Amino acid sequence: MSDEEVLFQITKDKLETGLRGFPIGYCTTSFVDPQKGLFYIDKPVAELAYWKPIQVIYLLYHGKEGTPQQIEEFNKDLAQRACCPKEVIAAIERLPRQGHPMKLFSISLLILGMFEATGNYQQGCLNLIAKIPHLSAAVINHHAGWGITPDPQPELGYMESFARMLNVPGADFYELTRAFNLFNILHFDHGGGNLSTFVGKAVASGLEDMYGSLCSAMCALAGPRHGKANQDCLEFVREVLEEVGENATTAQVEALIRHRLANNQLVFGFGHAVLRVEDPRATVEYDFIKKHYPNHPLVKIALLLRTEGTKVLSENPKIADPHPNVDGVSGTMLTAAGFGYPEYYTVLFGLARIVGISIQIVYERSQARGGKGTPIVRPKYLFKKREEI
Ligand code: MLT
Repeated sequence: MSDEEVLFQITKDKLETGLRGFPIGYCTTSFVDPQKGLFYIDKPVAELAYWKPIQVIYLLYHGKEGTPQQIEEFNKDLAQRACCPKEVIAAIERLPRQGHPMKLFSISLLILGMFEATGNYQQGCLNLIAKIPHLSAAVINHHAGWGITPDPQPELGYMESFARMLNVPGADFYELTRAFNLFNILHFDHGGGNLSTFVGKAVASGLEDMYGSLCSAMCALAGPRHGKANQDCLEFVREVLEEVGENATTAQVEALIRHRLANNQLVFGFGHAVLRVEDPRATVEYDFIKKHYPNHPLVKIALLLRTEGTKVLSENPKIADPHPNVDGVSGTMLTAAGFGYPEYYTVLFGLARIVGISIQIVYERSQARGGKGTPIVRPKYLFKKREEI
């Protein structure tokens, strides 16, 4: 590709379209192919779904697979960084519990930064990847009223340590860890252009430190069109279950979807900005719930929605992607595994996505453009009088 090659043409009709598809840089961790889905480096995500989270983090951080010894050393380094300062946890425990937990989560990143931001993006990235399970557990425990957060035990594994810090009532740690491992790996990264990643990198381009940049990224993730979709999707699957019952037929679910569409009601869990096939992350999760929880009432409904939703939505030529996305099934999987708390699903998403965003920020700040880093983000808006719009 020569430096002069035209990649994209911005015609007037591309204005006010959310920069959809505008190429603006390189992403060295992952990419999303409309037909094949998400790849971490050069590996389809389905291939990595049952690796250990630390192996996948190593792959994303270093851009290549680690040997067992390299992974052990990396793990040791992260383990030493895993515990948040006591003052940070105490400050989180004094914050108000009103409102959505993503508010608390975003603030907690700023508080952590007040104690340890140095402006060194690489150190910030490693510290955050290591500490985010502890920080997230403290946020959820405080918001849910689940009591004092125990210290991390990173030697148990990245997600088992997290599961054990969360004081989920009546938890089965084996089930929780198995589902958290999968959810975590599938949500680490999703190319460079998803909203939270883009926002995090844009804020870092002004040389805000890693913690402030990630706080902004998490505010971006909190919206229902982005990370909060997984919470809204589970609430939708629950509503459908209540309406049709767990032994519903395909015809009943199809009729419900048609009825909702005819009444301008939303059908959640379908479509994606880039993908034009079923999201492979969703496929992995559907396979997981079919295998482990085939008789769970929500699982039965999620599987019917998967086929019937696609069938009905495919009839509308205006719908570019009628296929299920990962949010359509994540909540069902987490509930079946014993974590039926949709309010916290976006925090779980953030806990995972901080890995990819922080690694992408390290690239943009210290490796891009021959080590100079990318300049401050500064797009152009055209002036137009309000009455001319
Ligand atoms: C994501 O995982 O970030 C979502 O699928 C949203 C996106 O890629 O735009």
